[in-house]
This record gives sequence, structure tokens and C-alpha cells, in this order.
Amino acid sequence: MTENQKSSHLRQLKNQLIRLQDYGIDEIPCNNSLNSSSLPTRSSSPEKTTSPNSNKAVIQTLAQVREELGDCDRCRLCEGRKNIVFGSGNPEAQLVFVGEGPGADEDEQGLPFVGKAGKKLTEIIEKGIGLNRSEDTYICNIVKCRPPGNRNPEADEINACLPFLEKQLQAINPKVIVSLGKPATETLLGRKVAITKERGQWQEYRGIKVMPTFHPAYLLRSYTLENRKAVHEDMKKALAELNR
Ligand code: URA
Repeated sequence: MTENQKSSHLRQLKNQLIRLQDYGIDEIPCNNSLNSSSLPTRSSSPEKTTSPNSNKAVIQTLAQVREELGDCDRCRLCEGRKNIVFGSGNPEAQLVFVGEGPGADEDEQGLPFVGKAGKKLTEIIEKGIGLNRSEDTYICNIVKCRPPGNRNPEADEINACLPFLEKQLQAINPKVIVSLGKPATETLLGRKVAITKERGQWQEYRGIKVMPTFHPAYLLRSYTLENRKAVHEDMKKALAELNR
């Protein structure tokens, strides 16, 4: 095994352990000499309540989640990025959009959905259902750094970033999440998804309603009346749920 592979495996293992800690698991049963002091520590783990009745992780604010993410090097996507694209919008939004990962424009500006697909998304939000993008929504991605050449993020990259998406969603606690495209929907639902079949059908992520729809970049590539209508219908369902 090369040094690079070793450090990549160690990074993945560390991230898995951090995720377990996030779920309140502080120990892993082990029958050899490894003890808990050998486990990686995290410099800024979520504060735990001191109450003896509860060892649940305290919900962090978005700012705390961003601080914990830091100058992230948890996966190889850090190597080619210019900026981390954490998310933007209203931290108290009732509606959150989750996309796939930053593209070149987003990487340049450090903001999600600011390129062509972003303009389309703004149009879908503002002209389509009459909301204001920055006031009424929060927008983020499953990975916070640009995959080279805009390829799909790989499983280990998604896994490294997932705790931060989870904490963002916990902090915002929206009424509705709109997942944009297959990778975002699969990540939130934790299973394979046929987006053309499942878009428009309500799903659930940790008690929050999820409306899967086409990614705006797909819409731009396949700009048919049928696809545009489909996204509009999905957005109307999301709006109706918000107004319920
Ligand atoms: N596509 C995405 O999935 N996210 C962005 O932020 C931009 C384009």
C-alpha cells in the first residue's frame, strides 16, 4: 500500500469514527490492546450536554458547523479546490435545496449555485413559485468542494462531507428539503434512486419531508417542456407543503 493510500484509508476511518461520535457512540468494543485513548480525538466535537440524563449531541448553529468544518482536508477534493462552498441563504429557512457539489463558478466564488445551473435554480424559485432565493431558502450541496472536471462526487467523498450536511440540516430544521438530482436524493435517502421515476413523490429524511426533483443542470441539458413542467409541479408540491 502506498503512503497516499494509507493516509486516505486513515482519513476515511477517522471520518467514520467522527460520525459514530456524532451519533453518541463513544466506544467501540475491542478485545485487544486498543483502548479509547488510541482513538482519534476531534478538536471541536459537538458539545455534549452535562446533564446525566442525556448524552445527546447539542445541535450546533450553522456558524458552529462551518467552524467545525474549518479548512477541511477530510477527503481528496480539498486538493483541487479554490474555496469551500458551505451554503448560502437564510439559516432559518423553511425550505432547503440540496445539490450535488460546486462547479467552477461556485468554487471561484465560494457560493453555491451561482453559475448557469444556479441562475436556472433562482428562476425556478423566484419566477416559478414566487419565493425569494436568499430570504426564503437555504442552499447547499452534498459535498462542499468541487469535484475535478465536475465529475460526480465519489462515495468516500460524500461520506466525508455527510456529517456536515446532516448538521446543517439539523441546525436549519426546515419543513421541506428539495433534493436536486440523483446523487443528492440518494445521499439523503440512503438508498439507490431512479430519479425519473421517483421525482415528485414525497420522501422523508429524519422526519423532514423531501421532494426529489431534477437537477437544474439536467434541466438545462434536456430542456423539454415535459421536464420543465415536471420540476414546476414538484416545486408547487413543495410550496403547498410550506403553506400547509
Ligand atoms: N451544481 C450543484 O449541484 N451545486 C452547485 O452549487 C452548482 C452546480
